Amino acid sequence: MSNSMKAISVLMPVATMPLIVEGIDHNFSLIKLWDQADPDALIRKHGSSIRAIAGGNKKRMDSAFFSQFPNLEIVSSFGVGYDGVDAEWCGKNNIVVTNTPDVLTDEVADLALGLLLSTIRQLPQSDAYLRRGDWVAKGAYPLTTTLRGRKMGILGFGRIGKAIAQRAEAFGVEVVYHGRNKQEGVKQQYFANLIEMAKSVDILMSVAPGGNETKHLINGPVLKALGPEGILINVGRGTVVDEMALVEALNSKAILSAGLDVFEDEPRVPQALIDIPQTVLLPHVGSASHHTRRLMGQLVVDNLTHWFAGKGPLTPVAETPYKKR
Ligand code: 8YV
Repeated sequence: MSNSMKAISVLMPVATMPLIVEGIDHNFSLIKLWDQADPDALIRKHGSSIRAIAGGNKKRMDSAFFSQFPNLEIVSSFGVGYDGVDAEWCGKNNIVVTNTPDVLTDEVADLALGLLLSTIRQLPQSDAYLRRGDWVAKGAYPLTTTLRGRKMGILGFGRIGKAIAQRAEAFGVEVVYHGRNKQEGVKQQYFANLIEMAKSVDILMSVAPGGNETKHLINGPVLKALGPEGILINVGRGTVVDEMALVEALNSKAILSAGLDVFEDEPRVPQALIDIPQTVLLPHVGSASHHTRRLMGQLVVDNLTHWFAGKGPLTPVAETPYKKR
């Protein structure tokens, strides 16, 4: 590691995993914003020396925030989703944004299938039934719905969507997809219209990213089209689903059930969703294994060391003026 990197100031707005904190601290001059008594004063004093921002995606970083750092070159964001970072503004202002794709694809796809099976077969509910002593007291757990004969529509057919398709097909489930464009060389059927896809399937799997473009794409009419046997699974971003419309669809039995790993206002989950017994609700654990989080954290650090070694970013997002490798 070149010693000259030690002179480069990297700002970390919020506390994140130790691997990232230590990795950046080891290579660069790390400024922990969350640790400062007066963060605004620090930014006023040292804003112009900051050349990189790194870490979690919990803080919304917009043009007003970035404008405080006139010499900012790169934002190394944790997670494949970067809806918290105004990447478009960064792109136009010559600031590179990186995320952590690929290394979490299989983990999130595994979780999506686990959540689907848990929802369809009510695994958490039947576990609770046993622990409450109801097996002894009341006998067998009630019968559930099945994965057999179902068809899955995937919203957001990127890397994770395709990894989910591969798994679902191995379980004997037919898969189709919806996205902005039909993809070349993809064997699954494409639906240009989300409602039309929802009508033709009984599992709607959302892997779509967050942001204004996808906000409330899954709304009342889409859920109604999914139908009374319909199951919604969301492992993408909570903002894609209109949560109140979902509560209404579940309560009125317009759809059967939902399995959610992501929510509109995390970590707050509407009580109305918690009160619906057939839902399976997870605290955003899609990529949350030691193995995968280590790889994601290392990529946050590696994007910075590559960039400042003059080798370009490893995993720039689409909005940055760098071609993906
Ligand atoms: C992380 C995620 O849980 O990668 C993403 O986009 O949503 C998850 O892998 C999240 O980034 C942690 O803050």
